[in-house]
Amino acid sequence: MTIGIDKIAFYTPNYVLDLVTLAKARGDEPDKYTIGIGQNRQTVVPNFEDVVTMGANAAIKIITADDREKIDLIIFATESGIDNSKSSALYMQTLLELSEFVRTIELKQACYAGTYGLMQARDYVATHPGRRVLVVASDIARYGLSTSGEVTQGAGAIAMIVSEAPKIVSINTDSVYMSRNASDFWRPVDRQEALVDGHLSTDIYKEMFLTLWQRYQLKTNQQLNDFAGFAFHLPYTKMGKKALDQIINEATLAHQQKLTHHLKASQKFNREVGNLYTGSVYLSLLSLLSYATDLKSGDKLAIFSYGSGAEAELYSVTLQNGFENHVPAKMTQQLLLKRQLVSVNQYETMFKSQLYDSHININSNAVKDTKLFQFLGWHNGERVYR
Ligand code: CAA
Repeated sequence: MTIGIDKIAFYTPNYVLDLVTLAKARGDEPDKYTIGIGQNRQTVVPNFEDVVTMGANAAIKIITADDREKIDLIIFATESGIDNSKSSALYMQTLLELSEFVRTIELKQACYAGTYGLMQARDYVATHPGRRVLVVASDIARYGLSTSGEVTQGAGAIAMIVSEAPKIVSINTDSVYMSRNASDFWRPVDRQEALVDGHLSTDIYKEMFLTLWQRYQLKTNQQLNDFAGFAFHLPYTKMGKKALDQIINEATLAHQQKLTHHLKASQKFNREVGNLYTGSVYLSLLSLLSYATDLKSGDKLAIFSYGSGAEAELYSVTLQNGFENHVPAKMTQQLLLKRQLVSVNQYETMFKSQLYDSHININSNAVKDTKLFQFLGWHNGERVYR
């Protein structure tokens, strides 16, 4: 049975900050942000959006009546969840009007958890033919004003339906993975901003990629030339280049050009959004499928997922017949183009206006006349959504 990603959709809030403007405000060289780090813009999150609204706004684009009958499991991956007990998947079930007869669960391991969710989804479908799983990876990357991580902030959600006979990619059973207790990035439960040793995290990412690439080759006997492209977890787009540069000489010269061209395609959406933690590697996959015009069915792509702390996984997917007709390239481009540009002042105001205190009954700045799901505010310690 072939199992994989049947549908995929992306959502990010409607506000965006230009990073050349931010660099100037912070007294940094704009080229450091746009070339050295490789980011052009970052999504800014208003206080009426969170991981739940972003996840639901992504998933609603792909859920059909047929899915509502066949989805048995909602897996919600996040490292910026909104409750220490209740799963965001439960909110998803309500907002998306899914059946009560589903399993709902939230997963956490930094930026890696979406990949584990996808693997669980594949294994579930393998033992329950005909059934489907909704996997949502949704996060807000928040480091703090004027910190070195600020330029790598961002937010958004990826929603995927995993089924048999998938229309976009099959997920191959060739994963290699590793875990190591490291102090490169973490967020204690009483903090809203991550603690990070950025350079250490970059080093561990590179090292784990190289280790897993060598292990993958031993396990599968495949070479770099066997892959049409890579989708990397992209906390910032230069990270993908740093990883690929370590192995690119293993390919023929012609193939090196192809991989470099496809790496650029895989970075395009992420350049405009910033980091979205769990969803980042799947936004990179969507970007690759949207911009690489020479991919064809049967091509194999490598996916490298990394979550600080640290855990990583490398596996491959295979493009299905007619995949290009099911990639929401235009929809995603339009979503990014229509965002409203905010000034540094407006961004800082929005950054400080998040409603974290559950003890106060308060309304968010939710807007009227929208079909989007929104966080309306706190009521008696509960988050209220519409
Ligand atoms: N023109 C062009 N390039 C310039 C430049 C200029 N004027 N000025 C500096 N640069 C280059 C530097 O040479 C450097 O390039 P290399 O990395 O290739 O050497 C790059 O810009 C960044 O410069 P610095 O290293 O001096 O920047 P920094 O100290 O401010 O830190 C960062 C950068 C580590 C990415 C920081 O933003 C950060 O900590 N981000 C958050 C953590 C993170 O994203 N880690 C990534 C791996 S962890 C992970 O993947 C999980 C996750 O999602 C968090």
